[in-house]
Amino acid sequence: MKKLNIGIYGFGTVGQGLYTVLQKSKTVDATLSAICVKHENKKRNLHLPLLTFDPNRILDNPEINVVAELIDDADEAYLLVKKALKKGKNVVSGNKKMLAAHLEEMIQLQKETGQSLLYDASACGSIPIIRNLEEYYDNDLLKSITGILNGSSNYILTQIFREGKDYATALKEAQELGFAESNPDADVQGYDALYKLVIITAHAFGPVIPAEKVFRFGIDQITNFDVRFAKEKNLKIKLVAKVTKTGKDEITLFVAPEFVNKENYIFNVEDEYNGVVIEGEFYDKQFMFGKGAGAYPTGSAVLSDITAISHQYKYEYKKRKYFALPRFTNRLSLTVYLRYHQEEDLALFDFDEIYENYKGRENRYVIGKICLEKLVKINNEIEKRQLFLAVFNE
Ligand code: HSE
Repeated sequence: MKKLNIGIYGFGTVGQGLYTVLQKSKTVDATLSAICVKHENKKRNLHLPLLTFDPNRILDNPEINVVAELIDDADEAYLLVKKALKKGKNVVSGNKKMLAAHLEEMIQLQKETGQSLLYDASACGSIPIIRNLEEYYDNDLLKSITGILNGSSNYILTQIFREGKDYATALKEAQELGFAESNPDADVQGYDALYKLVIITAHAFGPVIPAEKVFRFGIDQITNFDVRFAKEKNLKIKLVAKVTKTGKDEITLFVAPEFVNKENYIFNVEDEYNGVVIEGEFYDKQFMFGKGAGAYPTGSAVLSDITAISHQYKYEYKKRKYFALPRFTNRLSLTVYLRYHQEEDLALFDFDEIYENYKGRENRYVIGKICLEKLVKINNEIEKRQLFLAVFNE
């Protein structure tokens, strides 16, 4: 077991979580040498000599052999991680946005530098999904991965469905509890879940899919009408991220609210918990469940990445190494509920079939079949409108 000397970037929710978890854990032989933060005037409960405002104090310290990158800004994180790897340091990162955007380069950099970059903490908080995809699911039997990958939006939906709270109150609570991103649009508009899905897909099937190619719709336009519609049918609405092998050599991805029933494993995944259903040939379904947001669950996941580094663990990216990469396609037909107010909003959607059409005084909805390809094309346009969309689980 390698002796670790750690430098941390960032002392927000996750950084503070790691700090506490590190102090309690006896499993790792580690010294914490520096914590680099941005804002000099913020009050912090920290042992002062550890604190620095100069990123180079970590990068230029040859004693530090593990960098924990736990900052908010994806662009800064990208530069720091790159520099740290090039300086011969191992890195753990929780920055899903940065990783989703630069994973190809990060894989290459690990090869070139021989250093390890671990990021189990970036997807699903405390659920060890990435290392399991690498090590246990190291074959080509995977068929799909479906999950609740964002704790904040799940917390909000739970408060709305179970407690009857309104959206704004639930969102405020998710922020106060430290679940949400600093810009919570990333949570409620599905970006955060999408970045995690991109990372998970790379370890499940091999390719790094550009996030902008994937259809993404969030929960920020949900209204009481939509909630009532689901409840009348004994359904819940969950923000679901999904990657599916559609053909022998094709995969498709999307992030969208989905109606789920009691039979569905994610039906009872509530509050800030995440849940991931793994489907494969011959073994049908498996389910992983755990806290997806918050200081300690995520701090524990970072600790686990750090201890893995002490055992010289590296991701091997086995799907890329041993199998042909599947192609990405948006040729998937979905059954969709679309609630809208104006006819011009409906006109944006080129449904292939319509099964149900309701026109009330205030709310209107259609249920019909539409292809993901068409939804991706109007992704930006529909986001600005007061409409809500949810997919039926099939
Ligand atoms: N904002 C994220 C979430 C934090 O709510 O899931 C954990 O990645």
